[in-house]
Amino acid sequence: MGKLKDILEKYNLNDKDIEIIIYSIGNIYNHFEFQKRMRNFPHHGELSLGLHIIDVVVMTYKLGKKKLNSNDLNVALKIAAMHDLFTMPWQNNPISANKKFLNRHGFAHPVEAVINSYTWFKEEYNDDADIIIDGIIHHMYPLPVIVINSDDNTRELYNFDLYQRLPKNIKELIKKSSNRNKFLNLSWCRSKYVTGKIVSKADKKVSFTQIKSFRSALALITGHNKELK
Ligand SMILES: [Fe+2]
Ligand SMILES: [Fe+2]
Repeated sequence: MGKLKDILEKYNLNDKDIEIIIYSIGNIYNHFEFQKRMRNFPHHGELSLGLHIIDVVVMTYKLGKKKLNSNDLNVALKIAAMHDLFTMPWQNNPISANKKFLNRHGFAHPVEAVINSYTWFKEEYNDDADIIIDGIIHHMYPLPVIVINSDDNTRELYNFDLYQRLPKNIKELIKKSSNRNKFLNLSWCRSKYVTGKIVSKADKKVSFTQIKSFRSALALITGHNKELK
């Protein structure tokens, strides 16, 4: 696997399915920040982040199609399209190694993804900011996410500058969501909303097939992947 065509083919989508998906995520997909992540931005092993995200979008569609009404399905697809829009490739990243353990990729990237995606696509958030933010922040469940409560743990985010420029209500929603079920400065819970829960499930299903080796799996914790060229 490694091409957009291969990913779409395995799902057997009809024209109507494709139309619904494009309607929900077309603006996000066409943005240069998304396109940048389609190539030379390895995520699971050599697979690009953009292709991982597309896979999660279509899996979310498959899981949500029968369970969600059309509004919720639309929101779930947007959450899926933005869930991993973090700032930098994380495998073998020397800057990451200098960060405090709890501020590294595994725990911090969902918050980074909210900050980036709100900055680039605020119109996609509209009236659903609470649901979208909570869905992205807790997509890694059962892995926890960093708690945002002070400048202390936001300064090590790669996009701290963008965080500072967020509107107050968005910062408050990030804090509210990331402070739920707090233990050891991490938030241990799934999203409150069905849309977020479906994206999280889709991400697990997809990642399970994409992580092809023990070393790639171990990289999720260590940040190092010896197999990556
Ligand atoms: Fe993630
Ligand atoms: Fe993901």
